[in-house]
Amino acid sequence: MENRSLVTISGHTKDKIMYLIQMAREFELHTNRKLLDGKVIATLFFEPSTRTRLSFETAANRLGARVIGFADPKITSGTKGETLKDTIMMVSNYADIIVMRHYLEGAALYASEVSPVPIVNAGDGANQHPSQTMLDLYTIYQTQGTLENLNIYLVGDLKYGRTVHSLLTAMRHFNPTFHFIAPDELAMPDYYKMYCQQHGIRYFEHKDFDAETIKDADILYMTRVQRERFTDLMEYERVKDLYLLKKDMLSLARDNMKILHPLPRVNEIEYTIDDTPYAYYFQQARNGLYARQALLCDALGITLEEVRNDQTIQR
Ligand code: CP
Repeated sequence: MENRSLVTISGHTKDKIMYLIQMAREFELHTNRKLLDGKVIATLFFEPSTRTRLSFETAANRLGARVIGFADPKITSGTKGETLKDTIMMVSNYADIIVMRHYLEGAALYASEVSPVPIVNAGDGANQHPSQTMLDLYTIYQTQGTLENLNIYLVGDLKYGRTVHSLLTAMRHFNPTFHFIAPDELAMPDYYKMYCQQHGIRYFEHKDFDAETIKDADILYMTRVQRERFTDLMEYERVKDLYLLKKDMLSLARDNMKILHPLPRVNEIEYTIDDTPYAYYFQQARNGLYARQALLCDALGITLEEVRNDQTIQR
């Protein structure tokens, strides 16, 4: 049987990405539908989350499915020593699909190999966050009218930030130019720089973060320094506030430029920027609902045509 799990987005073709964007657009037009009536979605969050869990659960609810799961692994039998494999086997007895966030890189891949039902990776350690990438791609397309030939500036924690790793691999189809802005301690890992070289993706690295450096950006993608991934908290303290986007740094920005951030924001974007036309991170988070509706439907075998012909729309 075809494995419909979503572990990474790097295997998605350009056509598949555009297909999912079109499906997400259908859900933005009409959010409340009963396409997943009778289905049960499990959300297993071994790490904290606000947006990913709540938007997946909202997506399920608005599609007529029911939701089971946990937001805190401390209340599960994992605390008694139950393994991830046994947990997945148990939950697959109850649910049609499992959305899982885990602190271990590779946990989603492992779960997808043992699970009889599709696994959707809601973030595995510092590795990948494919559903975030779908909403990022949707947002970039929405704001720029295209995914092609864009200047994308990734700022902050490029070492541990799984959202930038996923985005980078997904953009390989669209001839981007990346600019990596990070201190040495948080630089883009060599693995992803080699990935760029292998796929003909242009990239430039910067330490400066000022109006001049970002003036050609179409997308300015800010990230939080991932405190939870540091083994040395002194190092975290040293780098945590290095890149703060201030309003006066937008003086040379292109008119079409949009600031994205996967959120939560800690100290990366001044609050005064929220009211500028460049700020788009809250709309971006809203798009998570539509993108995740599309991903749930796709993983459960519902096609774009079925979504378009859907008679269950509730206005
Ligand atoms: N963007 C994101 O993954 O946010 P949460 O950690 O709140 O889910």
